[in-house]
Amino acid sequence: MENIIEIKNLSFSYKDSEGKLHPALHDINLNFERGTYTAILGHNGSGKSTLAKLINMVLTREDGVIDGSITVCGKEVTGSISDEDAYDIQCRIGMVHQNPDNQIVATTVEEDIAFGPENLGVDPVEIRKTVTEMLKAVGMEGHEKSAPHRLSGGQKQRIAVAGVLAMRPECIIFDESTAMLDPQGREAIMNTIDELHKNTDVTIITITHYMNEATDADRVIVLNKGEVFMDGTPEEIFTQVDTLHSVRLDVPQVTELFCKLKKAGAYEGELPLHTEEGAAALKELLDSKRGQKCL
Ligand SMILES: Nc1ncnc2c1ncn2[C@@H]1O[C@H](COP(=O)(O)OP(=O)(O)OP(=O)(O)O)[C@@H](O)[C@H]1O
Ligand SMILES: [Mg+2]
Repeated sequence: MENIIEIKNLSFSYKDSEGKLHPALHDINLNFERGTYTAILGHNGSGKSTLAKLINMVLTREDGVIDGSITVCGKEVTGSISDEDAYDIQCRIGMVHQNPDNQIVATTVEEDIAFGPENLGVDPVEIRKTVTEMLKAVGMEGHEKSAPHRLSGGQKQRIAVAGVLAMRPECIIFDESTAMLDPQGREAIMNTIDELHKNTDVTIITITHYMNEATDADRVIVLNKGEVFMDGTPEEIFTQVDTLHSVRLDVPQVTELFCKLKKAGAYEGELPLHTEEGAAALKELLDSKRGQKCL
């Protein structure tokens, strides 16, 4: 499968107004295959947002010193690039941020989602179709005329996702897009991401502090102090409980519980990542204990 993003020996330091450098990323080598779903984890300040902003050109050579390269859809975005190409990359790599209020630009949901395509000069009839289609994709059908500021945080964030989708991006980066939402809003966004992954070939990168939001990804990358610390499947990453603790990260609660049971000698199986698997393993454990008592 083709790589949509290729990162080679990338280092980045922010430059402040006095020209002083602040290193943020060090020698990153990563490829992202088209259509895959990756979760990026890491403690505060580990460089997650910096990496995302370099990929979609929110950060450029004007903001600091870049070594190495990032290539997106075959174009090197870390070199000199025309304004036209830069705009093209930002359309192809959509980004959903933490605060939905900062992403809403219009007074109705319809106008908000239409904003991007209108700027691209898309035909109004086509735009109306796109708005309806994207609202359906995020489970907000029928909200065309709603006022965004009257919606809940989770609903606003889904409108923001619809706005990004309306630009027909090839990749969407969610940078802590659930952080300001209540549990219900968080679940709605996670369901939207799952549906996108199942039903489209959009490449998905989520940056999150919630470990259970990473368990359904194809791949988990852990950044630590600006470097790639771990890279593997959710099973490979989350079963390394002590290693994750060493970089001040948690594992899903159910994994933590079974890790403790294992250390106490009460459990011998695989560490579950999902609550359902944990419940099944616990039932099996209790059934076997009951069996032992009867003997
Ligand atoms: N504009 C800036 N100028 C100077 N240093 C910065 C700037 N933005 C971020 N940094 C530094 O770069 C490093 C990486 O920051 P970044 O925001 O990428 O981390 P993060 O992993 O996204 O953290 P968080 O989980 O808190 O969002 C940190 O040391 C941070 O202090
Ligand atoms: Mg960040």
